[in-house]
Amino acid sequence: QEGDAAAGAIVFKKCAICHAADTDTNKVGPSLQGVIGRAAGTHPDFKYSAAMVDAGKGGLVWDEATLRDYLHNPKAKLKGTKMVFAGLKDDTDISNLLAYLKQYSP
Ligand code: HEM
Repeated sequence: QEGDAAAGAIVFKKCAICHAADTDTNKVGPSLQGVIGRAAGTHPDFKYSAAMVDAGKGGLVWDEATLRDYLHNPKAKLKGTKMVFAGLKDDTDISNLLAYLKQYSP
């Protein structure tokens, strides 16, 4: 089921304290502009955890499936990540968020 980007913009408020999506600005977290299709831990100007860099080197690419998995429970899904966020439990919220993020990715 396709997500609703307008609803996703509301969900993104939980992320926006640490992430920009519509610009290439890093905050506490890396910019998520262009994140869909990007290898994990590869924004050139962001200082990631070793865990995130290793995940990318190991082949983790952010797509709808891997983002859904990670965002459910970041600390559990990627041991050692420095993203301090409890996760999104609601699948519809994640679908809507992904529709929102897609607007800013190729
Ligand atoms: C990393 C998404 C909430 C801080 C990431 C990455 C994604 C992501 C996809 C990996 C990016 C990459 O590999 O370039 C999200 C979404 C959120 C959210 C969609 C909301 C649902 C937050 C919050 C914070 C945060 C609230 C701060 C309290 C970080 C940090 C990293 C990161 C510091 C780098 C992690 C590391 O190097 O291990 N986030 N995030 N994020 N995020 Fe978030």
